[in-house]
This record gives sequence, structure tokens and C-alpha cells, in this order.
Amino acid sequence: MAVLPIITAPDPVLKKVASPVERVDDDVRRLMDDMMETMYAAPGIGLAAPQVGVGKRVVVLDVSKREGPPLALQMANPEIVWASDDDAIYEEGCLSLPEHYAEVTRPAAVKVRYLDREDEIRELSADGLLAICLQHEIDHLDGILFVDHISALKRNMILRKLLKEKKAGATSGDREPAGAVV
Ligand code: NI
Repeated sequence: MAVLPIITAPDPVLKKVASPVERVDDDVRRLMDDMMETMYAAPGIGLAAPQVGVGKRVVVLDVSKREGPPLALQMANPEIVWASDDDAIYEEGCLSLPEHYAEVTRPAAVKVRYLDREDEIRELSADGLLAICLQHEIDHLDGILFVDHISALKRNMILRKLLKEKKAGATSGDREPAGAVV
């Protein structure tokens, strides 16, 4: 396993739509393992393949440190097959937008269909933080960042700051995430 470099916004790689995985084989499993290690090292509670520069529909999650029982999930081709009418508001963060947080409104509960590590079709119903994290990661596969759900004014402010930091060659350094960093 290996810790992979995480791409930070603004970067065109993060805006691309990722391609479906044909079959979960050893290559995809290796990617899942590397992504898990990268996510835990960051630390974060979710990571999508485009964030490590891979244009495949693969996500990993583990929200257990924040909420609920241990739950390490590895998914290929995840899709939301049901979403609740009622919404939830969470303060979201993202490993690709370090040190920036914003309140985002999303459906409070979802059902997701995906391929697991054994290439088996599974369904998962989730609410709470896991439901939010699943939607955030699946957004990444469609080139959508959490800042795309907030006002253009706030989004541009965050992206401008990130661009400035990139140009200054600043590293993220030691940081204690305040919100849900996915
Ligand atoms: Ni993210």
C-alpha cells in the first residue's frame, strides 16, 4: 500500500467526470487499498479517486471516528438510487480544499448501489454523517466539489485563497480538521 499525493483545488483534474470501473480486479483493489491508506494518513473520512488523480469511479470512506460503529467502505461505481425528501445541513470540508469549511444542504438519507471489493453488487442505506459523506464522494466522481453547493461569492473567495496559497507554495502543514473532512 502507498500514501498517494492529494490534488488540491483549483485543479482541472477535480472537475472531470470519472469513468466507470468495468470490473473490480486486483488493480482496482490496489487502488482502493492505497486510497484507504491515503485517507487515514490525511486524516480524512472519505476519499474519491479523482482526488489522487485517478479518473475512475472509486471511493473509500470510514466515518467511524466521528460517528457510529467501525465502518470501512470501499466502493466502485457508487450511485444514489434513492434520496430522502428531507434535508440535512452539515459543515463540510474536503482534503482537496484544505482548511476551508462551509455549511452544505443535502438529502438527509440516501440509498447507494455499488460494487464491493469482490465485484459484487451491494446496496447501502445511510443517514447521518455517512449519508453526507457518500453524497460528497459521489459528487467528486462527477467533478463536483462541496463549494459548488454554496454561493458563488463564498466559493470564489475560497478558491481564490487556495490559488494564492498554491502560488505561494504553501504546504498544508500540521492541521486539526474542524469539520467533516472528506
Ligand atoms: Ni472531498
